[in-house]
Amino acid sequence: MCGIVGYIGDKPVVDILLNGLQQLEYRGYDSAGVAVMCENKINVYKAEGKLENLSSELLIHKDEYKNSTMGIGHIRWATHGAPNVINAHPHTCNCGSLVIVHNGIIENYKELKSELEKKGAKFRSQTDTEAVAHLIAYIYNETKNLTEAVRLAAQKIDGAYALCVMHSDKKDELVATKRNAPLLVGVGENEYYVASDVPATIPYTKKAMYLNDNQIVTLTRQSMTLIDSEGNELPKKVETLPWEPVALSKMGYKHFMLKEIHEQPDVIRNVLTGKIHSSDEPIILNEVKLTKESLKNLNRIQIIACGTSLHAAMIGKYIIEDFCGIAVDVEASSEYIYRKTVTDEHTLVIGVSQSGETADTLTAIKQSKARGSHILIITNRPDSAMAREADSLLSVNAGIEVSVAATKSYMAQLVSFYLLAIYMAEIKGNMNTEALKTLKSDLTLVPQKIEQILSHKEYIQKCAQYYANTKDFIYVARGINYPTALEGALKLKEISYINATGYPAGELKHGPIAMLDESMPVLSILMKGSVYEKLLSNSEEAKARNARMIALTNSKDEKLKDLFDFIIEVPEIQELLSPLIAIVPLQLIAYYISEYLGKDVDQPRNLAKSVTVE
Ligand code: AGP
Repeated sequence: MCGIVGYIGDKPVVDILLNGLQQLEYRGYDSAGVAVMCENKINVYKAEGKLENLSSELLIHKDEYKNSTMGIGHIRWATHGAPNVINAHPHTCNCGSLVIVHNGIIENYKELKSELEKKGAKFRSQTDTEAVAHLIAYIYNETKNLTEAVRLAAQKIDGAYALCVMHSDKKDELVATKRNAPLLVGVGENEYYVASDVPATIPYTKKAMYLNDNQIVTLTRQSMTLIDSEGNELPKKVETLPWEPVALSKMGYKHFMLKEIHEQPDVIRNVLTGKIHSSDEPIILNEVKLTKESLKNLNRIQIIACGTSLHAAMIGKYIIEDFCGIAVDVEASSEYIYRKTVTDEHTLVIGVSQSGETADTLTAIKQSKARGSHILIITNRPDSAMAREADSLLSVNAGIEVSVAATKSYMAQLVSFYLLAIYMAEIKGNMNTEALKTLKSDLTLVPQKIEQILSHKEYIQKCAQYYANTKDFIYVARGINYPTALEGALKLKEISYINATGYPAGELKHGPIAMLDESMPVLSILMKGSVYEKLLSNSEEAKARNARMIALTNSKDEKLKDLFDFIIEVPEIQELLSPLIAIVPLQLIAYYISEYLGKDVDQPRNLAKSVTVE
């Protein structure tokens, strides 16, 4: 995580850096800083906390940098060292003539630090990054060549990094490089922008060059030079990005999260557009390259993801196994990458990621690709590093999601999994065609059913406020909605910091039931279908232990009234599609509890939207 920006040109640099950092705030928000080239030296400004604190700090010093047209900036998600001003980037060498910003983790920073201390480096922060500042400065002092210093320093670094560097000797030079962390250069007229992600550069230019690992770019106002790790000059691939600058607005909602929850019906319509034409016609997924032959050769499917995307993957497993009869395993990417996995050319590997950048998932994908598996990526960012590894791509089109807690991107991932499962079932020809037709036409009805839920959200708000002061919260479900319970619990944890857990309801009696008493809310996701009666019995067991019972249901069953204190009703839907409906009230419960408690809904503590460290 962390976001880095850089600019060299003829415009006032501080505005550009601040605007860029604002666009990258989703990557971290515990401190921020900029370094700008002033007449005789580089000035560094930093502030703890949100970007607005840095803006206020900069305002105080505006006369110092008013003519500056070159600089670098950083927004931090702390990995090494507390989130304070000393640990905020940019970091400098002893004399402050070399400054760097960094995204990633330097794994051998302790070794580097002790070597550099022996050579006279004075460390001020607890960060891993500062070792790189001293290392580059040390090499620069010998070579007097900034690009060469960065290139040679990179050879001594283990770990992941995107770096942007400047030196007070070089008033017309920025150097940047990367390994296993995203970085691009926006190309303007006699000006260049460096950024971790497109939103920081797109307001200024649509032209950009993505850096590959170990490449080093040197930017002056008039030129851009790209070299590899050996120092050989490389051709530059400048693309015109299919992006439009978007003004990020809450559109009258109090928070982005609430706005994004309300966008879900339209997100589903978007995802379905061009893919389902009618229930009689097959699903069209243009960038998915699976054939009858390749599906026949598959032994299994492995889905890899993290967090909310992992929950979407768990529902993906359920429906692919149900519709296609192919065995599917789902695993957290962070676990997958550190064991001996049995993945080969007969495995279809599906990576799911809103950002397309998550380091664990990206590493897992690269490992499976090296073993010859077909890689299918489901992502909201078709321009991301993960998408670039894909043999097949399912772009979920949820639009930019600002709130750190994922809602509409989860919905888009789920719908994409339904499309994929139906698509594969149609190719395999193993599922009853009438059932497939009904699935397709029922899918198109989901947006209006979600609209119905949203139009009655006041009852959900009342329920949320009633439980807002609880310390713990349990969500139970069975079958296809067990991942819905996990996702509901994750949403609540993320934004309210309440200890929430999702359980398969049948597991309650194997341990968790010991926690139940009159203080514990238990929410049952009671969707009509194969496990309804079983879940009802499990809810009775919880009620018998005096738990505070809440039902989320599409049943009109009268007996629910005796069992539950709150009954949140949702529209009828066939069981296989019910996760699409059931998640919405759970997102709203999490939102309203967080809002009621006065938490920072869109930027909860300790989190970042894009997790680019393993
Ligand atoms: C979702 O609310 C979370 N912020 C988080 O769990 C997220 O889903 C996870 O970090 C994976 O991110 P990705 O989808 O971008 O890979």
